[in-house]
Amino acid sequence: METPHYHIVVLPGDGIGPEVTREAVRVLEAAAEAFGFRLTTETHPVGGAAIDATGDPLPEPVLQACLQADAVLLGAVGGPKWDNLDRAQRPEAGLLRLRKALEAYANLRPVQVPEALADASPLKREVVAGTDLLIVRELTGGIYFGEPRGRNGQMAWNTMRYTREEVARIARVAFEWAKRRRGRVASVDKANVLEVSQLWREVVSQVHREEFPELELEHFYVDNAAMQLVRDPRRFDVVVTGNLFGDILSDLAATLPGSLGMLPSASIGGRVGLFEPVHGSAPDIAGQGKANPLAAILSAAMLLETLGQEAAARAVRQGVDAALAEGVKTADLCRAGETPASTEAVGQFIAAYVRQQT
Ligand code: NAI
Ligand code: MG
Repeated sequence: METPHYHIVVLPGDGIGPEVTREAVRVLEAAAEAFGFRLTTETHPVGGAAIDATGDPLPEPVLQACLQADAVLLGAVGGPKWDNLDRAQRPEAGLLRLRKALEAYANLRPVQVPEALADASPLKREVVAGTDLLIVRELTGGIYFGEPRGRNGQMAWNTMRYTREEVARIARVAFEWAKRRRGRVASVDKANVLEVSQLWREVVSQVHREEFPELELEHFYVDNAAMQLVRDPRRFDVVVTGNLFGDILSDLAATLPGSLGMLPSASIGGRVGLFEPVHGSAPDIAGQGKANPLAAILSAAMLLETLGQEAAARAVRQGVDAALAEGVKTADLCRAGETPASTEAVGQFIAAYVRQQT
């Protein structure tokens, strides 16, 4: 078989973005070496870095490079230096344009609370330790985009709207990831009140029956799902939901690990997948070697999984667990008395671990 060769565009961005993506690339390169595939990376400025270089937060050649890549790995954009620019000129505008151009309709946000970190969670250790769930949020439909919308002096209105096709394709994404995980999907809606949720439920059930009968499907009303995410987060494997409910539930779930520096994300299903930490550019700690690179490294693991390099992705995740178990972690994850490791030390530990896995 020919060696697979992947072309990855890296957009480090601003603040801690370059620091954390450097470690993610280090780990990707180790994975390529250990698991026998080729990787070419190409780095471009985006956000504030691109504004400084060209005046545009997403220069056309950078966008074109992204559209031709197999995947895009992003750090974070923004910072006080660019805060007084007009909205359309700011770093975030570049990111919004990029996401739109990539046409991703599925946003994936995994949330894990490893044993070694359970004490940092706002929830009790007994409730939260071992949590490992994935929220699959539909990103291009629902009430954020539905027509008609508007307001007059006396009222305002929005429309929650989904087509069968939109529901079916996000359901397939959820079932495909469940297959790679523990085989369970929780679909979240408000079918006791909303017609759009009745259609949602019907279509998710149909995709389950016809295409993934070997997996397990449960339906939740969104209010109950919110409660269960706090009371018993371990009961969830993959959670699939629409745009609005997904926005809220993914931020709720993001609080479970107790640090923003642990949360990866992927936006997939469109032209090219975009993989990025949930956190921002953290100007308060930028340039100090303090940033937690795990969100970026776990985003790289999702990138590998999406490309079909599942064994490599697993090795990266195990490397993350090993680093945490051995106490190789940045300050945001340390309790009083623990010595923090640098961003680079964490990346080096995980890269070395991955290299030993074959
Ligand atoms: P932030 O996520 O950058 O930081 C919030 C807090 O969490 C800070 O105290 C920061 O030090 C800490 N933190 C974040 N990531 C961390 C990591 N990997 N390791 C250790 N600590 C970490 O959010 P904030 O402060 O609201 O925004 C800062 C800048 O980032 C702003 O310009 C904002 O617009 C931008 N931003 C960009 C995003 C993106 O590019 N996707 C997302 C969110 C914010
Ligand atoms: Mg949000």
